[in-house]
Amino acid sequence: MNDEALVLTETHGKVGLIRLNRPKQLNALSDPLMDALGEALMGFERDPNISVMVITGNEKAFAAGADITRMKDLTYSEAFNGNFISRNWEKVLKCRKPVIAAVSGYALGGGCELAMMCDTIICGETAKFAQPEVKLGIPPGAGGSQRTPRAMGKAKAMDLCLTGRMMDAQEAERSGLVARVVPADKVVEEALAMASEMANYSITALMQIKELVNQAYETPLATGLLLERRGFHAAFSTQDQKEGMSAFVEKRTPTFRGR
Ligand code: CAA
Repeated sequence: MNDEALVLTETHGKVGLIRLNRPKQLNALSDPLMDALGEALMGFERDPNISVMVITGNEKAFAAGADITRMKDLTYSEAFNGNFISRNWEKVLKCRKPVIAAVSGYALGGGCELAMMCDTIICGETAKFAQPEVKLGIPPGAGGSQRTPRAMGKAKAMDLCLTGRMMDAQEAERSGLVARVVPADKVVEEALAMASEMANYSITALMQIKELVNQAYETPLATGLLLERRGFHAAFSTQDQKEGMSAFVEKRTPTFRGR
């Protein structure tokens, strides 16, 4: 891919890396950028050689939010009829393979929301998270008001969304928004290492686990536990279960084939 592309893709073994690439606009999430991100995600999702994906930005910004210059004059009917956000922002939610957000610098508004749509977030020590839509006279539009309370509880979510203030990496980790904070210059490296660790496991198990953890947010506990139990029972029909457990007993490294 050339440097003009809105996203740059690389593969690292079984990991697909996607870099958002509008550096001059701090990766502001324009419609064409979200189309390109969706295509890259779906490409990796279809690729049988890829098991895990990582989305990142650059040192200064993961993404500074939806593109304000392009939204400024938008009318209600253009937003509603054009299905703004819903049309092309949520492809990451269609991925059955795990997706990791690797955040350096700003993850603001839609940038924070995109990171929260991913399955987990790893960030650098200088990362900054915010839902600053209130400063623009609007509420969050890509899940910020719904995913911040689930990630960090109501009080912190209200604090972030109603003040628009920035949360630093340490507070984000304490609050449960991010899984790991790493040195600022090691974010992509650490995210790729995390992704590679996952990618060595059974793709079937990875996708099952992702689906089950996501169900925890959608179902009552008893239903979620039943789904988990049925998935656990079903796993005994896979070759990967036999391989994983045989390898443990035989004291060797398992080779998973996704079957
Ligand atoms: N949209 C469009 N352009 C943006 C942008 C955005 N969200 N964020 C930054 N840019 C552009 C700036 O306009 C600027 O462009 P020019 O060089 O052409 O002037 C360039 O990126 C660099 O930005 P700054 O000069 O502002 O850089 P800074 O270091 O002084 O400040 C910042 C960085 C604090 C992130 C500041 O750019 C900022 O506050 N950006 C807006 C953040 C924001 O409000 N995001 C939420 C958007 S609304 C949303 O996302 C809705 C939703 O829920 C889907």
